[in-house]
Amino acid sequence: MSQKKLVILSGAGISAESGLKTFRDGDGLWENYDIHEVATIDAWRRDPELVLRFYDERRHQVLNVQPNKAHKAIVELEKHFDVHIVTQNIDDLHERAGSTNILHLHGEILKARSASDDQLIINWKKDIALGDHAPDGNQLRPHVVWFGEPVPAMYEAEKIVRSCDILLVIGTSLNVYPAAGLCYACPPEANRFIVDPNNLGLEEESFIHFQGTATEKVPQLVDILIQDFKNT
Ligand code: APR
Repeated sequence: MSQKKLVILSGAGISAESGLKTFRDGDGLWENYDIHEVATIDAWRRDPELVLRFYDERRHQVLNVQPNKAHKAIVELEKHFDVHIVTQNIDDLHERAGSTNILHLHGEILKARSASDDQLIINWKKDIALGDHAPDGNQLRPHVVWFGEPVPAMYEAEKIVRSCDILLVIGTSLNVYPAAGLCYACPPEANRFIVDPNNLGLEEESFIHFQGTATEKVPQLVDILIQDFKNT
């Protein structure tokens, strides 16, 4: 019997208990920074150094935290399901936990790319300064999708979600499109679950809500899914 396709749509909430701030919670990132000054293509044109410093700070934090129990529990699913992770996060915590099939919708903070060629991407764990150049001689920028920029991985992400048997939405406020639209793209017969301390009102979309934090609820949900798998 072919394995059921299980898709995870994750957001900043899954990394919160690792110590990475979310964007829109009480003390979230966007409480302390104006999105328009650090995370848009216009900000990059206006004050590239401020943008570089903002992402240097993000990169330092990612390099100093570890995957948590939620990231690790998800790895267990790969023994029983065809798991695809579609994450809005730019951290590498899913990778470091051991997940193997990850699509980053909004880029990856441990990669950098030429400001003139979005295909020229290199691994990069240091700060980026003005004057740091990509192999094509152009300024390096974080390999991150800024507001106002296209989301190149969206087409592939939609294809993945449209053919899933199970969808887990973990730690995202579903505020940012097109990513948020993915939670409505799964087949009508797919089983769908959401893990979040807050109620995002997806019940009418027949999501089963595991209300609580990722480290508390994701391991529980994983155990239930694996148990169900074994009983089928
Ligand atoms: N466990 C699970 N979920 C949590 C936890 C936790 N410990 N703490 C917070 N959450 C939930 C919040 O309730 C919220 O629904 O995580 C979600 C975080 O939402 P946002 O801060 O909006 O993060 P996210 O949805 O990933 O933002 C999407 O916005 O700024 C852009 O590009 C950025 O990828 C990001 C996108």
